Parts: sequence; structure tokens; C-alpha cells
Amino acid sequence: MSSSAGAGGPLRIICIVGARPNFMKIAPVLRALKARGVETMLVHTGQHYDQVMKEDFFDQLGIPTPDVDLEVGSASHAQQTAEIMKRFEPVLLEDRPDAVLVVGDVNSTIACALVAVKEHVPVVHVEAGLRSFDRYMPEEINRILTDQLSDLLFTTEEAGAANLQAEGIPRSRVHYVGNVMIDTLKANLDRASRLEDVMQRHAPGALSLVGEAGYSLLTLHRPSNVDDPEVLAGLVDTLIGLAEKVPVIFPMHPRTHARLESGGLIVRLEASDHVALLPPLPYLDLLGLMANARYVLTDSGGIQEETTALGVPCVTLRENTERPITVTEGTNEIVGTSSTRIQEVVENILETGGKSGRVPEFWDGRAADRVAEVVEAWLVDRRRVGSARA
Ligand code: UD1
Repeated sequence: MSSSAGAGGPLRIICIVGARPNFMKIAPVLRALKARGVETMLVHTGQHYDQVMKEDFFDQLGIPTPDVDLEVGSASHAQQTAEIMKRFEPVLLEDRPDAVLVVGDVNSTIACALVAVKEHVPVVHVEAGLRSFDRYMPEEINRILTDQLSDLLFTTEEAGAANLQAEGIPRSRVHYVGNVMIDTLKANLDRASRLEDVMQRHAPGALSLVGEAGYSLLTLHRPSNVDDPEVLAGLVDTLIGLAEKVPVIFPMHPRTHARLESGGLIVRLEASDHVALLPPLPYLDLLGLMANARYVLTDSGGIQEETTALGVPCVTLRENTERPITVTEGTNEIVGTSSTRIQEVVENILETGGKSGRVPEFWDGRAADRVAEVVEAWLVDRRRVGSARA
């Protein structure tokens, strides 16, 4: 263990989480910082709050109970972002850490980065530089702005550095370290749940659906897919068709469940003998389903990366991706929402096994160690320069 102690005591970093995908990213980072003697305070904004969207992840990933829960809950983008800022500011002012570390691209990420930078507290962004070039995605706005505010930026793939350079961010702030979410995947793959157990827990009546043909896994939650009733209805019809060949297991995000209910679409899915509807799943359950699926249909960013790491074919139901390496090196295909195109790509996967991929460089389970090493060295140096000036 290296020691981050020096003049002014141990280094101290506030780490932020808010929504489900943040939890998988922060777990290895907290561990790696601790191993170097850095003190951490974990702040959960409360953007996601249900048991299945929160506690199950903390338990399974061994994340300590947050030191502070801001309990902001759901609201419009402006309200949620503003509320996180209002509630985080006093926490930051009281603790005065050496840095604030944010992950990913959710509203909690930009909100806390903005509070920190205005108080002259350095911002560390893990998973920087990803760009879909689609400004209708709320996450794209969060990414661009968070990166502009950050002092240290950690990228998951080579394209990140070029994107950041194009936006005028000095190269010296950017470090290519790999993918901390894949650290979590590698650390937990042996513990991933078995299909039978997942179904037993969440949809006992539906296990018989899965036979010789195996199953495919579907996740859907992007506003562009689920908030537009026409797009959602089209996707539902396509999926019911696909499920005739290979049954579809569909854990529903709360946003999606609500839209399927209000649009009267859930009955169509329930009427299919080949679709299993499940609640949102804990990490190890989703990981188990993903690892053994014939193919995965998704609009999630994280799942595009996880399927690449697992070598499982991924059909992305979006027009673009901010994670191009999953296409150039991995198993991902960007397919959009056209029924014909989705069917074509799935047919091909079933016939040929899909495109073969390789796991990108540094997606090796050690990304968080690299993050912690750079952060510690940078902060120690910053303190030294600060005390020399004083
Ligand atoms: C958020 C992130 C998105 C991430 C996703 C993962 C932003 C802008 N979006 O989208 O990048 O991919 O999380 O899930 O930050 N809800 C519950 N229980 C919860 C949380 C939410 O029922 O614990 C319901 C609420 O009705 C809420 C809706 O889900 O209005 C959407 O939640 P929200 O956090 O606003 O956005 P997500 O779609 O989850």
C-alpha cells in the first residue's frame, strides 16, 4: 500500500454516485483509492432510489453504505440537476476534500462537477471523452459539460482523447486507463447468477419458455425509444416477432414499464408465449443472463461494453453510439429501430453466430488501479505546489 499522507494529512476525495450504472463504476475505484491510503467519502445523490435500482447493487458489489444520501429522487432534468446541486453544496463546503470524483454521464455527474469547480475543488471524471454527437441525448450534454469542468479525465477508449482534443481540452489532463465497469464485470463473472435461479426469483412461471434455442436478452430505457409511443409500439411488435424464433427475456426499467403500461402495450407483451417480463434486475442476475444469451438487444451504453467484454453479440437499438470501440473491435452492431433492419441483423446472428470481436486494450480488470495511481500522484503534487507557494 502506498501512502497518500503528507502535509495536511491523508488525501481525501468525495466520490459521487447517483444512478444505477454509476454503482458498477465506483465500486473498483473506491477499492483502489482505499488501497493507496486515500480517504473517500461516498455521496449518493438519490437519483435512483428503489431497492432494485440501488440497494441490491450496493450489497452485491460490496459498496459501502453512502456517507451521505442527498435523496433527490425523480424530477424533470432541470429540477433534478438543480436539487442535486443545492443539496451537494453544503456537503462539499463542510468536507473541503482534495477532489471530487464523478463517473459516467448522468445528471448527478454534471451537477456535482459544477458545484465542485465553482468552489475551486478539482474534478476527476472517470469515463471521459465519450461522444455520440447526438445532442438530443441528455447524457451527451452531461458528458460535454463535465469534461469541460474536469481537471483529470480518464478515458475508456482511444477515441476519447481525440474527442477531448477537438473540444480544446489539454492533452496533459487526459489519461487512457481502460474501463472500470469491466473491472467489476471481471471481478464478478464467477459469481454471476444461473438462468434457473434468476427466473425462479423473478418470473418462476416463465422458465419453461427457454428451451433448446436458448434465449435473447432485451433491455430498453432510452427516452428516444420509450418516451415516443410510436417508436415504442414498433419495437414491441418487432420483439414479439423475434421472440418466435428465440424467446426474449425482458427485465423492464421503471421508465419503460411505466410507458408500456400507459401506452397499453404491456398487454401485447404479456400475451406472447415467448416473452418473459421481469422487473429490473440486480447486477449478478443481469450479468448471468447477459453472459449466456444467444444475443442481446439493448439501448444501454454500459451493456454495449459488457457484451463486448463477454464476446456476446449485441444489437444496439439506437442510431449512434458514444462507444465506437464496441463496434470496431467488439461484438456490437448499431442497428437503429427499423423493424426490417433489426430482423436482418438478428437472422444473421442466428445463422452465423454474429461478428466475432476482441476485448479492447486495458479492459483487463485493472483500470481502477490506473485511475487511483494517477489521481494520487496528481493530488500529492498539487498539495506540494500549494504548500511551496504558501
Ligand atoms: C438515468 C440516466 C441514464 C442512465 C439510466 C440508467 C440521466 C439523464 N439519465 O436515466 O443515463 O442510463 O439512469 O437507469 O441521468 N424511477 C424509479 N425508481 C428509481 C429511479 C427512477 O421508479 O429508483 C423511475 C421514475 O419514474 C423516473 C424514471 O424512472 O421518473 C426515470 O428515472 P431517471 O433517473 O430520471 O432517468 P433514467 O431513465 O433512469
